[in-house]
Amino acid sequence: MQSDKTIKAGLLGLGTVGGGVYKLIQRGQKEMMQKIGANLEVAKILVHNMNKKREGIDASLLTDQWEDIIQDDEIQIVIEVMGGIEPARTMILAALNAGKNVVSANKDLIAEHGRELFDAAERNHVDFLFEAAVAGGIPIIRPLKQCLAGNEISEVIGIVNGTTNYILTKMFEENMSFEAALAKATELGYAEADPTADVEGLDAGRKAAIMASIAFHSRVVFSDVYTEGITKITAEDISYAKEFDSVIKLLAVAHNTESGIEVAVHPMMLGREHPLASVRDSFNAVFVHGDAVDDAMFYGRGAGEFPTASAVMGDIIDVCRNLEYQCTGRISCTCYRETPIKQFDDVKNKFFLRMQVANEPGVLARIAQVFGDHKVSIARVIQKNATEKSAELVIVTEKVKEYHMQDAMNEIQQMESVKEVSSVIREY
Ligand code: NAP
Ligand code: HSE
Repeated sequence: MQSDKTIKAGLLGLGTVGGGVYKLIQRGQKEMMQKIGANLEVAKILVHNMNKKREGIDASLLTDQWEDIIQDDEIQIVIEVMGGIEPARTMILAALNAGKNVVSANKDLIAEHGRELFDAAERNHVDFLFEAAVAGGIPIIRPLKQCLAGNEISEVIGIVNGTTNYILTKMFEENMSFEAALAKATELGYAEADPTADVEGLDAGRKAAIMASIAFHSRVVFSDVYTEGITKITAEDISYAKEFDSVIKLLAVAHNTESGIEVAVHPMMLGREHPLASVRDSFNAVFVHGDAVDDAMFYGRGAGEFPTASAVMGDIIDVCRNLEYQCTGRISCTCYRETPIKQFDDVKNKFFLRMQVANEPGVLARIAQVFGDHKVSIARVIQKNATEKSAELVIVTEKVKEYHMQDAMNEIQQMESVKEVSSVIREY
């Protein structure tokens, strides 16, 4: 196929992901015409620091003035791979309002301001695509919006942060300490410069908000998501997980229930029989349950230069195909419901509890009484490491409301015979 037609794109950002996208566009030139019926050219690239050395990049493409890209009438696609809320939000809105299609990998922005961006895209009949914003290279946004569109989806559970999965895998398989595993994850480039967003579950929380919105057709924002990280997980917890034939994973958990949407990110003990239990190292996976498809799982690399660029490239090619057939804006916001978000206090979970107690008659009975008073039903009790004075008590509960558990634990922590509550971990 021969044609002089060229689609021009502008890149906002040339870091890990932007660099990968630029290289993939160059690498794909040979077959671009067959794929999209036109050439694809990066016409301009916005960066912060014009003096940085950038190998393999034509310096004449670089600019530190974003208006150069937004006001260029020949640029039809803006690829936002800078990150952060501002100035990315202002630039994307300006691009959409200028009639440009936008591809973004920015989960922070979409999890907070998604509605505003979709509204602008819809008004201007342009595409706003963001496959890379959740689970990097794994296709999950498009499958939820398109391939599974005929389903009523009731559950989405994901391992959507590579850093924490790497840390938990190393703690589990090599008895590595949390600190040593985090240092290694940082060295390998998985963790963010400030890894707080990874280890405290915030990065996964943003991805959970985006996935829940799309799966359940109702807007969920980051502040709706309960988040708890992995910093309190100890070697002892890992050893109990092994004893229970389970693993510990940081899970993004979203359910669409009759009483509203439940959405949270926290560590969970997960039985080895669950498909997510075998997702090791820095890999990500998302498990979906739909009324027609039944169970489906999407697995792969959730971060890194080329895996993330792969998802961005898929979106760019989609926009190019839509441009060719003049149908941009074909699939926009799919949040056509307004389902309430359930208070996390009302969500039901099973719990694994580990506490150090005085080894004397009546202690277990008094603890059981407190649980009973707060409607917490006990499934299993194990006592270990007993000395003359103390013992380790492990209690696994049935499914109980979060606030009942919280009330019971507040009372138990005040008991004289309870020396320490060492762990409170939810069980899937
Ligand atoms: P990065 O390596 O830090 O690169 C950011 C780029 O944006 C840099 O080129 C930087 O310019 C430019 N930039 C930042 N602020 C700017 C400003 N105010 N004006 C002009 N240019 C600015 O980030 P990244 O890892 O590629 O991540 C980019 C986006 O992809 C983020 O939204 C991130 O959440 C998302 N994402 C990343 C991954 C991953 O594996 N890295 C995975 C999934 C999604 P300089 O080069 O001059 O500093
Ligand atoms: N720091 C993130 C992770 C990168 O570890 O998964 C992708 O969002």
